[in-house]
Amino acid sequence: MASMLALINEGEEVVVFEPFYENYGPDAAVSGAVPRFVPLNDDGSIDENALVSAFNNKTRALILNTPNNPCGKVFTRDELKLIADLCADHDVIAVTDEIYEYILYDGKKHISIASLDEMKDRTITISGFSKTYSVTGWRIGYAVAQKELTSALRKVHDFLTVGAPAPLQHACVTALRFPDSYYKELANMYDAKRKLLYDALIKAGFRCILPEGAYYILADIPDSIGMDDMTFARYLVSEIGVAAVPGSSFYKSEAGKHKLRFTFSKKEETLMEASKRLERLEL
Ligand SMILES: Cc1ncc(COP(=O)(O)O)c(C=O)c1O
Repeated sequence: MASMLALINEGEEVVVFEPFYENYGPDAAVSGAVPRFVPLNDDGSIDENALVSAFNNKTRALILNTPNNPCGKVFTRDELKLIADLCADHDVIAVTDEIYEYILYDGKKHISIASLDEMKDRTITISGFSKTYSVTGWRIGYAVAQKELTSALRKVHDFLTVGAPAPLQHACVTALRFPDSYYKELANMYDAKRKLLYDALIKAGFRCILPEGAYYILADIPDSIGMDDMTFARYLVSEIGVAAVPGSSFYKSEAGKHKLRFTFSKKEETLMEASKRLERLEL
């Protein structure tokens, strides 16, 4: 929010991949930006033509989220290069949310777009402590960018939040000193949970792909169910006892009405119980 308020003038455009973390739409609206949604292909790859045609002379920023909430996509170096070239050609700033940077599977590597030469002066890299250190209620995050960009950003941030609570910042400094093994264990722990939830969803009859990163699975609602995402999410809670987020939270287009987002950031026994309950679904 602070980045968008600092960067964008009323009526300028922001490119946002769909599906997107649900805050980006309101963030754009509050800063007066016009979001331009670019749907990712079903397999998570970029539709190059759609991306190219989203850029024009009003484009000011592009929002990137890798690893992605809700679909678990991890952007590859080639994809980041495509985005970087477009940003450089159109003088666009990338605002990149990398909060799941340590939650990666199957040997996937996290690449910050700011590490590409043409992007180092035109990227605001954002991350936070909540996911890596399992402190989601703390709301401590940070932004890294070159001086000219942070000058406006720091002013806006000061008036939005003044600052993060000091004792929590001290605790976060302690977390930054954790050894490498901490990050390996974190990813391994989520990997086991990822497989548990994925198997449960497949067994229950959902179509979904294994996420490459983060801790969510975006599943298709089978047509045979005859319910949209809101109705089916309510049905799942009240009749089956499992909660999921309706897909339309993450889409501007109709595609979200056919999807639900499940999380595996839960205790193993909770996932096992959910798996048992999902077996009652007749999909
Ligand atoms: C992609 C993404 N960015 C940012 C956040 C916000 O994190 P926090 O408010 O816990 O720092 C979340 C939390 O769900 C997220 O999924």
